[in-house]
Amino acid sequence: MKKTAQHLFLKVTSPQVKRWIIPALTSLVVVSIFVAVLLTRQTAPTKQTPNQPVATTTLTSEDIGLPSPELRSGNSIEAVLKARRTRRDFLDKELTLKQVSQMLWAGQGVTVDWGGRTAPSAKSTYPLTLFLIANKVAGLEAGEYQYIPEDRTPVHRLKPIKAVDLQQAIYEALKESSFKNAPAVIVITGNMDKMAESYGGIPHDKEVYLEAGHAGENLYLQAESLKLGMVTISGFDEAKVKDLVTIPAGDTIIYLVPFGIPKQ
Ligand SMILES: Cc1cc2nc3c(=O)[nH]c(=O)nc-3n(C[C@H](O)[C@H](O)[C@H](O)COP(=O)(O)O)c2cc1C
Repeated sequence: MKKTAQHLFLKVTSPQVKRWIIPALTSLVVVSIFVAVLLTRQTAPTKQTPNQPVATTTLTSEDIGLPSPELRSGNSIEAVLKARRTRRDFLDKELTLKQVSQMLWAGQGVTVDWGGRTAPSAKSTYPLTLFLIANKVAGLEAGEYQYIPEDRTPVHRLKPIKAVDLQQAIYEALKESSFKNAPAVIVITGNMDKMAESYGGIPHDKEVYLEAGHAGENLYLQAESLKLGMVTISGFDEAKVKDLVTIPAGDTIIYLVPFGIPKQ
């Protein structure tokens, strides 16, 4: 027994064996570390709750990925309906990207594989676009952005349009007090041609306006649930808004929605 151990020891320490055993052991250690790192990365817990799909779309260098929408809250739909109110005065305080993301998703987020959204659409046309004017939003440069709901389950993002501080300019142009402190404004536009196309070329503007109403109510309910305040504004000079905000030529501006943390 003692002889066999001695024999083995001599074999292991012999120069020929040393020549291959040291590199082999080193390679084994390196490969084990690599595999361990890979496994840790794949199983690391994400901050998503189980009912939230993980965003997987590759963003272009320009796009800003938005946090996945929260699909649960402590509020019942009935309590939110009861509490919903128009609120026009906001604290001069910034919003988080999560709050803004949740609002945009409530307005037009995609909720099913085929592209269906949070708000219904006549003939599934989806003629609405939401633009965000960010005045004070954590992590966002002040400016104008387009909300891209995506055509798959919530993988939504913002497309920057221009970096500009519009807070004072909009307030002065429209003389509406709710714009004064609003940290963000959602602009809801509709494309009448897109809807007409769905009806064989016959104009159906009514459906587009109705859809903006559905999106507006979604925003109201979401704002209430998040303890944010907002107002849907339809009384504005569209030309003045188009002077300040970059809107596609074929789109009609239907609603302006200043929102933020309510004063009271
Ligand atoms: C189609 C529509 C257009 C509106 N336009 C404006 C507006 O231009 N300016 C404004 O301050 N509020 C506007 N509002 C908000 C209403 O004034 C508000 O809903 C109304 O006072 C009732 O209050 P409540 O929303 O708290 O129930 C509008 C609401 C709707 C539904």
